[in-house]
Amino acid sequence: MNQEIERRRTFAIISHPDAGKTTLTEKLLLFGGQIQVAGAVKSNKIRKTATSDWMDIEKQRGISVTTSVMEFDYNDYKINILDTPGHQDFAEDTFRTLTAVDSAIIVVDGAKGVEAQTRKLMTVCRMRNTPVIIFINKMDREGRDPFDLLDELEQELQIKVRPLSWPINQGARFKGVYNIYEEQLDLFVPDKQKVTEKIAVDINSQELEANVGEEDAAKLREDLELIEGVYPTFDVDSYLNAEVAPVFFGSALNNFGVKELLDCFVKIAPCPRPTKAEERDVNPEEPKFSGFIFKITANIDPNHRSCIAFCKVCSGKFVRNAPYQHIRLGKTVRFSSPTQFMAQRKSTIDEAWPGDIVGLPDNGIFKIGDTLTEGELIHFRGLPSFSPEMFKYIENADPMKTKQLQKGIDQLMDEGVAQLFTNQFNGRKIVGTVGQLQFEVIQYRLEHEYGAKCRWEPIHLYKACWIESDDAAELEIFKKRKYQYMAIDHEGRDVFLADSGYVLQMAQEDFKNIRFHFTSEF
Ligand code: G4P
Repeated sequence: MNQEIERRRTFAIISHPDAGKTTLTEKLLLFGGQIQVAGAVKSNKIRKTATSDWMDIEKQRGISVTTSVMEFDYNDYKINILDTPGHQDFAEDTFRTLTAVDSAIIVVDGAKGVEAQTRKLMTVCRMRNTPVIIFINKMDREGRDPFDLLDELEQELQIKVRPLSWPINQGARFKGVYNIYEEQLDLFVPDKQKVTEKIAVDINSQELEANVGEEDAAKLREDLELIEGVYPTFDVDSYLNAEVAPVFFGSALNNFGVKELLDCFVKIAPCPRPTKAEERDVNPEEPKFSGFIFKITANIDPNHRSCIAFCKVCSGKFVRNAPYQHIRLGKTVRFSSPTQFMAQRKSTIDEAWPGDIVGLPDNGIFKIGDTLTEGELIHFRGLPSFSPEMFKYIENADPMKTKQLQKGIDQLMDEGVAQLFTNQFNGRKIVGTVGQLQFEVIQYRLEHEYGAKCRWEPIHLYKACWIESDDAAELEIFKKRKYQYMAIDHEGRDVFLADSGYVLQMAQEDFKNIRFHFTSEF
């Protein structure tokens, strides 16, 4: 069992849209033998053939909406890549996926540097102490000065960085990278089909000049000296403790620097680690199975409204058909056809180990965050919901389908597609999302999966704040005074819907004993 655990690497690749996450994922699948020719598959084509594309809407738009898993063997390692939606309107989905990984690779566009989504995703990694490796992509394009980029990464992502490879020029003059970790020179051959060969060159010999020219050789030596002077020697433990992020440079599209990244990644990235539950920390080596649901996704077949729940195995061995306890329902459940995911197919499995992701057929029994065990009462900690950024009233557009609409909304909220608030004053339902696209997905899915029609009506809100207080009387006064703006969330918790930053500020000043939270867990 320990061997199985130690060889597993479960991680997510995250980035701001267009930085090259899909391209990098594709190249990793190439090394894993999951696809045959890199570059032959265009970046959004892989989205169309990958298991993640289960919804028509994604296919129409070429947006990776849902999250799926791709697993493959590489050398002695078993790699589980958790794919995340590329579109930022589905950021919540990505946040939840990050609860199921042991580490992350962040892709940054070398010309654009740190972008909004990168910053947000890094916040989630920091919340969970997830170790990260940074891949600076598109070095074949004219970009920013690498030292400036490193400074920006440290400042914007609030983490110390340590370059493990260093670019020799960039854009049209890009000649390759010096792999600091392996002390090797990798020369760049712009070729999307082949894996580039490494050349071992002594950095202090004239061989370097022979390969990259005098000017670049001098610059490289100078840069490396500066790196050694400025950045402390790389220490794996500080990476594992999420204090330092190693940085690699390359070009995913050209398959350059990707193998170096992968080779270093499998060596230093953590294998499955203990998972925090309300009651205690659960170690992967524990003999009894436990796991939690971090993602529920609609099935490919719209005629069967069955879903797949993604379960991360936290401890012990998952076995097909074995009886497991569904903690929230207090029910024994068995799974006769659990699935495993490969890049372009899924297959039934008999067993799975900690770090693995198992797809469980779900006919409505799961909610995000549900725990499965062999009987022990434990609850794994999920990730809080963040205050949505956009709000709309959801109205029934087909009175004959009220029941279907209710069921659809309930199930989509259980899946974590968006957040639902019920206004206590008028009973109207308000859906909160991160972006416009989520409203479209909800409308589409209600119609195609539940046969219900909805209509959106505008509501102007600034933020949803979860409120609590030790002073019950003051809380009551607040709720009475703000009755038009009070709602309950899907779990029945009190939420104050502030319509402007000013109103929120006034409320905070007037009610000093009430705590206003912008996330659902506090
Ligand atoms: P994402 O998943 O992070 O959203 O990014 P994706 O991989 O789809 O890449 C976004 C665009 O950047 C793609 O171009 C892709 O080809 C390009 N790209 C990725 N890596 C590199 C690189 O190393 N160098 C250069 N020059 N470009 C790179 P596109 O035009 O949007 O799509 P496509 O038509 O090429 O598929």
